[in-house]
Amino acid sequence: MVDRSTPPTRPPLSGASLVLRLAGIAVVVAAVAGAFAYVNGTLDPQRLTPKKLINVLETNNGVHPGFRRNHSKGVCVIGHFESSFDARSYSSAQVFNQARTPVVGRFALPAGNPYAPDGAVPIRSMALRFTQANGQQWRTGMNSMPVFPVGTPEAFYQFQQAQSPVPATGKPDPAAVPAFFASHPESAPFLAWIKTAKPSASYVTETYNSVNAFYLVNAAGQRQAVRWSMVPVAQDAPVATAPAGTDFLEKDLVQRIAAGPLRWQLNIILANPGDPVNDASKAWPEGRKVLNAGTLVLESTQPQLNGECRDINYDPLVLPAGIEGSDDPLLAARSAGYSNSYLRRTSEVSQLPAAKQEAQQ
Ligand code: HEM
Repeated sequence: MVDRSTPPTRPPLSGASLVLRLAGIAVVVAAVAGAFAYVNGTLDPQRLTPKKLINVLETNNGVHPGFRRNHSKGVCVIGHFESSFDARSYSSAQVFNQARTPVVGRFALPAGNPYAPDGAVPIRSMALRFTQANGQQWRTGMNSMPVFPVGTPEAFYQFQQAQSPVPATGKPDPAAVPAFFASHPESAPFLAWIKTAKPSASYVTETYNSVNAFYLVNAAGQRQAVRWSMVPVAQDAPVATAPAGTDFLEKDLVQRIAAGPLRWQLNIILANPGDPVNDASKAWPEGRKVLNAGTLVLESTQPQLNGECRDINYDPLVLPAGIEGSDDPLLAARSAGYSNSYLRRTSEVSQLPAAKQEAQQ
């Protein structure tokens, strides 16, 4: 039998080995602290960090506790996706290989003010979370513009800085945005689009684009670069002028969905060799092969203050097996920035107007 009553004794540490051991611990602690400082950006104040990206959005839009730091004004939607099976030879993702996948989505306006009038900007967004039967998810955030104004996170940051209030007036410098565009020729396709774009009267008549590129990967491991668009099915033509008032988009959506489900076709655009897959400011030429991958069916809405979409981070790099991110640098910046925004807003949920109202009742 082994005697466990007396613990084995260790020889006492000599002075030298004690110093060595403490030095070893100090090295490990310093390395960990250094890693944190690197991730935080404190080692190199010039480095663009997720915190800086979100701080500049707060500077420009104000802090609205509990709300997203961008695309703050929105509404949740519930529905499902019906696969056409046309994308299954390109992707092993279950969403394309199974008849029906449940979806929780969100329509929104870009910019960080949850009280902005709906007519303030001509851009609308659609975000979707597909939850596959195997538990894997596909999250995507799409915009109604076909291309992004810039191709890198650094340029996005500078673009935001150009819109920040300056100390002398407390307002943005009116010359800063034109100066930004003058030094960023890559913005030309976006500027050409925005020149004629009008704020739509409805979320329902819009086409929503992935803007960034991704890869579809099939069971044999073959990769195809793609972008995708959600195109409205059999809906009336866009109304040229948005109605007066500030909050017409959500009312319009609630009314239309009460009359029956709303549908979009998922078009997947296949890149030709040589098409830019790492630059969201560049359009792909016309004439690319397009797959009709299936139909999005939206069946009900929920207010964003307590709906299912509120606590979803539509991080574009949450992808199922069979869909992969490209090396577009905006994707990693979006993923890190959305997570920073998500951490801020979810820690403030008790300050949302709905939570305040409930607390008062
Ligand atoms: C570096 C560039 C970008 C930054 C820093 C940025 C930042 C943000 C942030 C902070 C949010 C709110 C996230 C949350 O709290 O859940 C957001 C939402 C969104 N962004 Fe971006 N964004 C960038 C580029 C893009 C691009 C290229 C697209 C193109 C489609 C896009 C589409 C969207 C959409 C659709 C939403 C709304 C998602 C929702 O409804 O929750 N963003 N963005």
